[in-house]
Amino acid sequence: MEQVQFTEENIRKLFGFEDAEGEPIERLRQYYFKNDSFEEVLSDLPLRLLVGHKGVGKSALFKVAMNEQQSQGHLTILIRPDDIAEIGEKHDTLLISINKWKFGLTSIITEKVLAQFGVSDDSFKGKIIQYGMKVTKLISDMAKPYLDEKVDFAPGKRLLVENFLKTEKVIVYLDDLDRGWQNRKEGVVMISALLNAIRDLSSINPGLSFKVSLRSDVYAAIRFEDESSDKFSGSVTWHAYSLHEIYVMLVMRVMSFLGQSINEENLKKMDQRKLSYFLEPIMDINFKGNGKWENAPIHNVILSLIRKRPRDIVKLCSLAARKARKDGARKITSAHWESVFEEFSQGVIHDTIVEYKTELADIERLIFGMKPSGKTKEASEVFNFQTAELKLKINKIIDRGAFRYANGKTASAQDLAQFLFKINFLTAWKRLDDGRIQRKYFEENNYLSSSFVDFGYNWEVHLAYRWALQPDTLEHILSRFSIVA
Ligand SMILES: Nc1ncnc2c1ncn2[C@@H]1O[C@H](COP(=O)(O)OP(=O)(O)OP(=O)(O)O)[C@@H](O)[C@H]1O
Ligand SMILES: [Mg+2]
Repeated sequence: MEQVQFTEENIRKLFGFEDAEGEPIERLRQYYFKNDSFEEVLSDLPLRLLVGHKGVGKSALFKVAMNEQQSQGHLTILIRPDDIAEIGEKHDTLLISINKWKFGLTSIITEKVLAQFGVSDDSFKGKIIQYGMKVTKLISDMAKPYLDEKVDFAPGKRLLVENFLKTEKVIVYLDDLDRGWQNRKEGVVMISALLNAIRDLSSINPGLSFKVSLRSDVYAAIRFEDESSDKFSGSVTWHAYSLHEIYVMLVMRVMSFLGQSINEENLKKMDQRKLSYFLEPIMDINFKGNGKWENAPIHNVILSLIRKRPRDIVKLCSLAARKARKDGARKITSAHWESVFEEFSQGVIHDTIVEYKTELADIERLIFGMKPSGKTKEASEVFNFQTAELKLKINKIIDRGAFRYANGKTASAQDLAQFLFKINFLTAWKRLDDGRIQRKYFEENNYLSSSFVDFGYNWEVHLAYRWALQPDTLEHILSRFSIVA
């Protein structure tokens, strides 16, 4: 088999873009991994809310779902942050904002659907009020004359218009609307108003359905601040992947890049050691570490380093492949993983601070406060805590200044422990009777629970953060990390 050249182009083709928006749809569909969220989002209901951490794959799912629905003849449109700029920043009161959204969305949807028909006619703007937000009726009345006048529609467009006039169905995707979102009153009002406006519009227009993506922390803030938001909880799909599923994604990318045929169901059932053989053309599948990591299967290293976010594996592999190129190498070796760990760890810390700063302004002080304080414990223990030790550690950080959530609530040590678990900074683990280690990650669907229940687990700082807290060699950091069961 001809060896791969790690050119920038190939690295992109192999591991993809960090944001799904940048990925050509043909390439994305070749390796897109479907889990239950996909079917849930596609279900024909007025509102689907896709909630998940940054980098978990919300945009990728929307991109593939839209593409599939378009190829089935459905009329779909995508609304992104730039489209809603006109709806403005000011969101003081919920009722006024709901009307702003309803008017704004009616205008944007009509404009985008007419554009898809190949019709650019702004006269609809003056009719929105009179149509009382009946978007699909407004679009029908706008489109019909064009059909009657035998306007020369571009190929396929006439069918799209005829289909629409029959079904009056439009599927509206809203992605990334929480970009630059601030956890302040306006921010909460803005999103609550949007969700209420969508509910009203889809009840006024039976053919209109919405798919909205929201970051977990944004959705949590809405749920905390706006008690009427529980009416949306039935529409929520928590978007998450297991580490195994993310490893399968990597294998599907490499196999599709190498032109191999993929059977997703088989790959899902395959254990990670076997899966690694598909990666052999581009990386050593055993890690040249020391001690328990000597000759460790590469999946153990990769899956211990990443959080449960597909973007992490894109970043980690792209960084290592670039190192390999600089090295003139045609395969990623242990030394390449070694040499990118620092950059990867700093990137994870930076992303975490950016993502959760809206929820806890002082997050940076908390995370760096978790740095090992030299004098206390054995080196191997500095990143491991029993629940009482964890609270002790956090209380010492609180002693240097209290922490307040964006909603003004003061955070207790218990709250902060829960928060660190929720943002994947901490992982829970315990040794099973047969001596193996069992790890438990925060389950996204508990995002709203504030109870920090101690199921007899210990807590450890996720490997991805360790370098930035205590610069060290990957080898040494691994030597103090127990392999996953
Ligand atoms: N199911 C999947 N199969 C393969 N790759 C995926 C899948 N889901 C996500 N990815 C990849 O993970 C990366 C991050 O995904 P995406 O940009 O969709 O995240 P996001 O949730 O929209 O993040 P953000 O909140 O920052 O917008 C992209 O490279 C994307 O291609
Ligand atoms: Mg996105």
